[in-house]
Amino acid sequence: GTGLAEAAGLLAWYDRHRRDLPWRAKPGETADPYRVWLSEIMLQQTTVTAVKPYFDRFLQRFPTVGDLARAPQEAVMQAWAGLGYYSRARNLHACAQMVVARHGGHFPADIDQLRALPGIGAYTAAAVGAIAFGIPAAAVDGNVERVLARLYAVEEPLPKAKPLFHALAQALVPSARAGDFAQAFMDLGATICTPKRPACVLCPWSAPCMARAAGTAETFPRKAAK
Ligand code: ADE
Repeated sequence: GTGLAEAAGLLAWYDRHRRDLPWRAKPGETADPYRVWLSEIMLQQTTVTAVKPYFDRFLQRFPTVGDLARAPQEAVMQAWAGLGYYSRARNLHACAQMVVARHGGHFPADIDQLRALPGIGAYTAAAVGAIAFGIPAAAVDGNVERVLARLYAVEEPLPKAKPLFHALAQALVPSARAGDFAQAFMDLGATICTPKRPACVLCPWSAPCMARAAGTAETFPRKAAK
């Protein structure tokens, strides 16, 4: 495929099957960078179902990044209690304070400046950049790697294939609707292109998918022998 056709196909699928999640802007609305960032940090090691009630409670207690920055550390840890991976909560608080101190309370609309904030790695910078600001960045997580491995029948095993996956993802990102594209990619991996028994008949990328054509979708991604 050309990339362009694949992006258009995935976005058309997203318009029909978009999951309504509390951090997602409704069609036509603009996303709140604070909500996008908070959701991406919470979703790093936690499922969508588990995150939802925490996300809502967290926003009630800390409606803005300024409220979060000014809160005592204990209040932040208490609101996080139960989500696990508590370094995320400490980084979250430090990040909020840095957004206030260095960026006037506004998340920077720049991948490198996002990447420089506590707790924000390459994936999160790309996800926040795309979803909150429409920057055409590729947010590559495990779900996206699996989709790409199948779409292109990538024989190179993980983790060695990570730079290749990043390049393949970047080549697919459209210049418009980058945030929808990023979330559509995540949803495709989470709901259709699942590790076991992928629902290829429902997939917007079944036609261009090389692993599907070979009947080997479930065998991707390849993993290095332990
Ligand atoms: N997992 C990580 N980020 C996500 C998002 N924005 N929507 C759904 N699942 C996700």
